[in-house]
Amino acid sequence: METVEIDTDARPEPAPETEGSHGRGAYYATTPIFYVNAAPHLGHAYTTTLVDVVTRYHRLKGDDTFFLTGTDEHGEKVAKAAEKAGMTPQQYVDGVADQFRATWDRLGIRYDEFIRTTEERHQKVVREILQRVYDNGDIFYGEYSGLYCVGAERFVTEKEIVDGKCPDSDDPPEYRTEANYFFRMEKYRPWLRETLEENPDLIRPERYRNEVLAMLREPIGDLSISRPRKRVPWGIPLPWDDEHVTYVWFDALINYYSALASKGLEERYWPSVEHFIAKDIVKPHGLFWPIMLKAAGLPLYQHLNVHGYWLVNERKMSKSIGNVVRPLDLQKKYGNDAFRYYLLRDMNFGLDASFSETGIAERINSDLANDLGNLLNRTLGMLARYRDGVVPAAGALDPLDQELRDAFTALPAEVGRLFDQLQFDRALETIMEAVRKANKYVSETAPWELAKDPARAERLDTVLNTCVEALCCASILLEPVIPGKARELRKQLGIKRAPFDYASASQWGLVPAGTRTAPAEPLFPRIDLEELERAIAEPEPEPLEHQAEIAIHDFGRVELRVVTVEKVEPHPNADKLLVLTVRMGPETRTVVSGIRAHYEPDQLVGKKLILVANLKPVTLRGVRSEGMILAAEDADGNLSVATLDRDLPDGSEVR
Ligand code: ME8
Ligand code: MG
Repeated sequence: METVEIDTDARPEPAPETEGSHGRGAYYATTPIFYVNAAPHLGHAYTTTLVDVVTRYHRLKGDDTFFLTGTDEHGEKVAKAAEKAGMTPQQYVDGVADQFRATWDRLGIRYDEFIRTTEERHQKVVREILQRVYDNGDIFYGEYSGLYCVGAERFVTEKEIVDGKCPDSDDPPEYRTEANYFFRMEKYRPWLRETLEENPDLIRPERYRNEVLAMLREPIGDLSISRPRKRVPWGIPLPWDDEHVTYVWFDALINYYSALASKGLEERYWPSVEHFIAKDIVKPHGLFWPIMLKAAGLPLYQHLNVHGYWLVNERKMSKSIGNVVRPLDLQKKYGNDAFRYYLLRDMNFGLDASFSETGIAERINSDLANDLGNLLNRTLGMLARYRDGVVPAAGALDPLDQELRDAFTALPAEVGRLFDQLQFDRALETIMEAVRKANKYVSETAPWELAKDPARAERLDTVLNTCVEALCCASILLEPVIPGKARELRKQLGIKRAPFDYASASQWGLVPAGTRTAPAEPLFPRIDLEELERAIAEPEPEPLEHQAEIAIHDFGRVELRVVTVEKVEPHPNADKLLVLTVRMGPETRTVVSGIRAHYEPDQLVGKKLILVANLKPVTLRGVRSEGMILAAEDADGNLSVATLDRDLPDGSEVR
């Protein structure tokens, strides 16, 4: 790694003053890199959308902005998921990483970089940092016993175990003893404590800073940062001892730096880094990561921003609990912008929020349709009726006009302040309050009355012009949250000028007189709540997800044959896999299959099954697999191998 000149004792610089309207300086924000043991869900989508919103906001202000996301692909948890899917870890992680990327693309997330921890560019930086810390004497070899939670991929303390279960999980911890390499964390405890005390907003909101300070009041111990390669082969080998691989958290946290270093961007962006995470991973980010950075001679982050959980039926959403909400389903139903608006408006940053689909619908109906959509619709309707759809120039302002104008021109500073303080719900509420004021202004000025009296034409011009300016201002402030609809709103108003910057939102007079508007179209169609509640009470069966159509000759390329199971053994290194020896006419094949949770070896011996016989062989945890057994699986994960209902000799073709 290129060595950067750093004063390791320097305290983090305060973040550049970003209040109000003038953008300057760099801004670098990250999401966690998500485990690829499961498909993206609402929780992942929330953090990623949030970082998309804040980076759009900073770009709008003119900051030199960088947005990083990615996937965490090593570790036992991922290796187990691959095993269960009957794939090699690499095949498996490639598939899920693509799925994450595709989801973010469909949600309109504009990240600058996507990092995967299996990429060589990342592994190289991890090895360099490990070596540096090792050479400095902060890593030693030793033995450790304790309670381990595979779900969280870390040793836990007794205190963290509730009712015999791991945090946020229904699984019990495992007692483990291992000889590993350890990172001297305890040595840095006084330093971290002091740093946190001197930088009150380093970890925010405050409750999470207090959580980390509380951890620092007692010894934190040293961190086991390696795993024996024999047991966990899926990881980055230690540069000085390849019998051990790097503990997944020591590997993963470095992504925030390696993504920059691999592009030569570390000097430009590292000093401005802010991390966004949920409260589940405060310990690695609040404790391990600052100490890792310190030990590696790298500056600390500017902020660790911690949000709460989206709860579904009062519990944290998780795959093991089975209350997972899929972001793309909601996006398809309600559209990107409404979904983003709901996520930001309905969570108070730092606290938990309850997800409900009726909640989305209510938000759409109240804020987006009734307030914003209605203001646009009325304004365009009146312009069409009274001014042939052309924006008139304003005349002299009455107190009512002035008041509304003042309310809007004060918004950018106030909204910017709330954004900088991570109060996204209040920022949106503040904008909508102004929009409601504008609707009230329309009722009070009663343009339909003014239109009856030709002597009051100038007054009517002023009122209509004021409404157009208010809408334009709101559209700029809402741009980071509802980028698509904000643009559509300006398009309906006939505004060609684009893009606006954040500062322009406080300049009244953005829409020149003479601008020709378009016919009104509902920006956010209203949702029928009764119908939605009915649909939720009696859900329709999930539609099947079909593959792309294929021609008969495509199918003909798959060679399926009847096989007789001769021998079944558990896989020596994988607890989800069975190794089957099968006869197929004159041939014998070895097949590794992820059905161990569903069949006892004895139940399978002698059975006739169906094998995909021309599948390219793969080696799964050291055993070569020459084909794949066909099996059916229902939505709850119940599994049945496919069998014949008449006895035919093995080797027979299945067509
Ligand atoms: O922890 N509500 O990955 P992960 C809100 N790979 N946010 C949620 C959520 C919920 N119910 N559930 C998940 C890991 N999240 C590690 C991170 S970083 C160097 C390594 C979001 O796939 C939230 O951002 O378990 C949380 O911190 C993250 O997903 C955990 O993702
Ligand atoms: Mg997790």
